[in-house]
Amino acid sequence: MTRNPGLTSGNALKLGLFGSNCSNGRSYTTVPGRWDASWDNNLKLAQLADSLGLECMVPIARWKGYGGETNVNGSSFESIAWACGLLAATQRINVFCTVHVPLLHPIIAAKQMATVDHVGGGRLGVNVVCGWNEDEFHMFGLDKHEHDDRYAQGEEWWTIIRRVWSGEPAFDFRGRFYDLLAVEGQPTPCTGERPLMMNAGSSPRGRQFAIEHSDMHFDGVRSPEESAARIAQSKSQARALGHDLQVWTPVGVICRATQAEADDFLRHLVDNADFGALGYLAEMHANDARGRTDAEGVLRQAGEGPLERQVLARGSYCAVGSPDHVAAELLKLHAAGFDGLVLNFFSYLDELPYFAEQVLPRLERAGVRYRHSSTETVLP
Ligand SMILES: Cc1cc2nc3c(=O)[nH]c(=O)nc-3n(C[C@H](O)[C@H](O)[C@H](O)COP(=O)(O)O)c2cc1C
Repeated sequence: MTRNPGLTSGNALKLGLFGSNCSNGRSYTTVPGRWDASWDNNLKLAQLADSLGLECMVPIARWKGYGGETNVNGSSFESIAWACGLLAATQRINVFCTVHVPLLHPIIAAKQMATVDHVGGGRLGVNVVCGWNEDEFHMFGLDKHEHDDRYAQGEEWWTIIRRVWSGEPAFDFRGRFYDLLAVEGQPTPCTGERPLMMNAGSSPRGRQFAIEHSDMHFDGVRSPEESAARIAQSKSQARALGHDLQVWTPVGVICRATQAEADDFLRHLVDNADFGALGYLAEMHANDARGRTDAEGVLRQAGEGPLERQVLARGSYCAVGSPDHVAAELLKLHAAGFDGLVLNFFSYLDELPYFAEQVLPRLERAGVRYRHSSTETVLP
């Protein structure tokens, strides 16, 4: 049994889908037809992605909506349960869960994730979130720790989980955040190796956590050219610590027959932006970044970047245009050093088939992906 097939080897440029467990996905617009995160849609999407040979699905962990006219992400499937259902219904694709360190005790998290990993035959991954959106922490009656302490707690949390998963005899753990006696937990993950871990810390401390502990750093990108040096540095720092690090980034995609059609659709989304939700989110993240002097932190205090990117993909990089243009954009990101990209579409199920038909063959011809051999593509 292979651990996280396709993620540790396989295609040079790996692809996943991001955010389909949440209503509206990653788009902040009132345009009708925006993503309905029903179970039926998630199941169809995962089976389609599986049959196309995409490497993974990554959920957003969100406990309440962002308000505005459409209450973006107001309905979301809890991600460990979501991953369990999708893994049971697919063959090859990896499915991540996204877990908030302060909200889930590590012993519970270790057992839940090990259980789901058995359901998926070694295809579970975990996105570790140390703390971000204050409103949901308040909903749990918690205050977030000071920024860098969140990652100190994350280190203890992840250490406990890894030790439980290693199957070592019952151990005591005495840390700043956890004081635990005779910790054990069986079964361990089903392949004898732990699930891959990703982390999206962007601040200096968050990035350091990702470099030290994760297998995949989820990093933001302003332009591919500007990212290249940072990606190379993250990878070489991880290598110096004795492990390989992949670097991934999210990308919002609109792919249409012509550039004009894609641009028109983006304009339509922007003309109907959900400014209430965008404003709420921007203010919360600006507050969280207050006092930071690193480039990311300064940007966040000033707002979340170009409006188009915010509307289509909550500020992430966007590839909008004809199949040639979208493929070229994704190749540019790969050339900058990104190993993988998680995509979001305004309406995943309506738009992924065209992307697969038009863009995947271009990536194959460019030599960054193999043609997927499945003869059985599940069309919605
Ligand atoms: C691609 C990506 C996915 C993320 N997923 C989530 C998530 O699902 N839930 C959440 O609360 N935060 C999520 N985050 C937030 C990060 O884990 C992190 O808290 C944020 O980037 C701030 O980083 P910092 O703590 O280093 O400032 C995500 C961030 C990125 C870039």
